[in-house]
Amino acid sequence: MSKNTIDDNTILEALQSVNDPEIGRSIVDLGMVNKINRKNGTVKIEIKLTIMGCPLKHRFEEDVTAALMPLEGVDKVELSFIAMKPQERANLTKKMTGRATSEMFDKTKAKHVIGIASGKGGVGKSTVTVNLAYALKDAGYRVGIIDADVYGFSVPRMMGASELPTVIDDAMIPVTKDDIKIMSMGFFINEDQAVLWRGPMLHKTVVQFLTQVYWDNLDFLLIDLPPGTGDITLSIAQTVPDAHMLVVTTPQPAASGVAQRVAELSKKANFKLLGVVENMSYFTAPDGSRQNIFGEGGGRLLSTKLDQPLFGQIPLETKVREGGDMGQPISSNGDSEAAKSFKEITEKILEKLKNNK
Ligand SMILES: Nc1ncnc2c1ncn2[C@@H]1O[C@H](COP(=O)(O)OP(=O)(O)OP(=O)(O)O)[C@@H](O)[C@H]1O
Ligand SMILES: [Mg+2]
Repeated sequence: MSKNTIDDNTILEALQSVNDPEIGRSIVDLGMVNKINRKNGTVKIEIKLTIMGCPLKHRFEEDVTAALMPLEGVDKVELSFIAMKPQERANLTKKMTGRATSEMFDKTKAKHVIGIASGKGGVGKSTVTVNLAYALKDAGYRVGIIDADVYGFSVPRMMGASELPTVIDDAMIPVTKDDIKIMSMGFFINEDQAVLWRGPMLHKTVVQFLTQVYWDNLDFLLIDLPPGTGDITLSIAQTVPDAHMLVVTTPQPAASGVAQRVAELSKKANFKLLGVVENMSYFTAPDGSRQNIFGEGGGRLLSTKLDQPLFGQIPLETKVREGGDMGQPISSNGDSEAAKSFKEITEKILEKLKNNK
């Protein structure tokens, strides 16, 4: 076929399948294909980058070349880059985050928002959040996590996510690990750095995570809340309409009493209670006997008091802690009792949400 048969439309059609490596959307739709020049089988493409120093330039080179070389009449592909002007970047971030200036969470970002709460620290909120995320992902859902526990952010470490989010002006692209999107203050602060957070700053950060992050049509956005009923929980309740709350407790009846206060305060703040998960419920000794290290009955008691389902009881297992420490949550690949328990809890949550509608 003659080299003249190829036209710009054919090229644009082929480029439609090339995604910006960070944003994950077609470079054509994002307006990043700035110029197309053709001469004797050489196609020159000018790409408009969000920032000139984009570390992923080579990915554009590989992907664009791979998309165009199979076309008839293309012998060579050459790329050049320019940077977007501030106004163009603003248009792009608006396209990404929806109503970028709004202080309200736009429901198109995620179908369900679930805050994971507890009365006190150390009961396994982050462990439940992360493992629930993997179980939901395995069930075929699109999942994101906000690590809103600004005092003890641990989600990036538990998932072994070491990359940093991309910030484009006031929009942020979350880090993706194992197909789960993550946003955490931990990405911006060293783990051993002491931070004194003041109320307005906390509010601003959490609202930003909800409204200025490119979550891109999630099914579930899970939020690892700080223990107790702090300002953050209230900020989330104000920003997200119809947010659900899942309460984590240990089996100690006293612990479930604290969790109950949190759940009831949150209900006043407009969280919809989803149910209860009991963690560290029992330990199976090598001889097969069950030991109730942290007592028993706390989850059931809380579920009765709140009139909400007890979705499950997660056993104490060394592998759960190891998975968290190694950045490989147990429900990502394990078939232990705890991993099964996370799966069952996930199924019950899905069932309840389905019946709620
Ligand atoms: N079922 C379990 N079996 C064994 N270890 C567990 C289990 N659940 C949680 N852990 C471990 O207990 C510790 C505390 O759990 P986690 O960090 O999830 O609690 P948290 O409620 O988020 O705590 P914080 O209030 O500090 O954020 C972690 O080291 C975690 O790996
Ligand atoms: Mg935590």
